[in-house]
Amino acid sequence: MNISEQVAFVTGANRGFGRHLALELLSRGAKVYAAARNPESVDIPGAIPVRLDITNPQEVSEAAEVAKDVTILINNAGSSTGASLLDGDLNQIHLEMNTHFFGTLSMVRSFAPILANNGGGAILNILSALSWVSTGTIGAFSSAKSAEWALTNDLRISLHPQNIRVAGLHVGYMETDMTTGVNAPKSNPAEIAKIAIDGIASGSYEIIADDTSRKIKNALTGGVAAIYPHFA
Ligand SMILES: NC(=O)c1ccc[n+]([C@@H]2O[C@H](COP(=O)([O-])OP(=O)(O)OC[C@H]3O[C@@H](n4cnc5c(N)ncnc54)[C@H](OP(=O)(O)O)[C@@H]3O)[C@@H](O)[C@H]2O)c1
Repeated sequence: MNISEQVAFVTGANRGFGRHLALELLSRGAKVYAAARNPESVDIPGAIPVRLDITNPQEVSEAAEVAKDVTILINNAGSSTGASLLDGDLNQIHLEMNTHFFGTLSMVRSFAPILANNGGGAILNILSALSWVSTGTIGAFSSAKSAEWALTNDLRISLHPQNIRVAGLHVGYMETDMTTGVNAPKSNPAEIAKIAIDGIASGSYEIIADDTSRKIKNALTGGVAAIYPHFA
């Protein structure tokens, strides 16, 4: 896929990783819709701001009405409440599922017909290394990212006949607002954005963007003990 000929729609594009994705797409010549809950917070020269809360069905429909020429949808918008499954606030656990799973699903249901109408295209869901493992502390996020991974696998099959490639990107920690309180090595989101757009351009179905994700993926074949040594 030649990125310079594409029209991309990025959710959560006002800051963090989404902003870097939008900048990377623009630098490669794509037309870019930069969606944000507050479109006035989008400061990306050349991008078209769109009002969008992905958990608001009315706003999802309105976004699909204004962006009928889209050929790449990037579901990036995400939240991390830090809620644990056992004793975290249930509202926060619902919020994580509503955002990562139901919000992403709502976007795909509204935009897949647009992509199909434009001859097919690509959908990239921003997943996580935590789609595959849990830390025991932020169970709501891991569960929502696992659900979004399952959604990605299912929709890849369903949308293949319409010439829509559905991909997932797995990454460990990146240096964004989401990880302000995390004291661990973090990737540069601008570098990960390059890897993401390279992956779309080359037609990858699964983009493993860093060593953390690569190591975890490889360890999965070793069973529970390979991922969680204290259960050996
Ligand atoms: N940072 C990491 O280490 C990391 C690792 C793996 C995966 N990820 C994933 O990468 C994606 C981007 O995260 P980030 O690190 O850039 O986080 P971030 O800096 O906290 O930015 C989150 C973005 O998502 C938007 N957003 C949240 N809920 C939304 C909703 N309901 N509707 C529309 N937009 C919404 C935010 O908008 P507002 O400005 O309005 O709040 C913001 O633009 C997420 O899917 C996250 O799960 C991040």
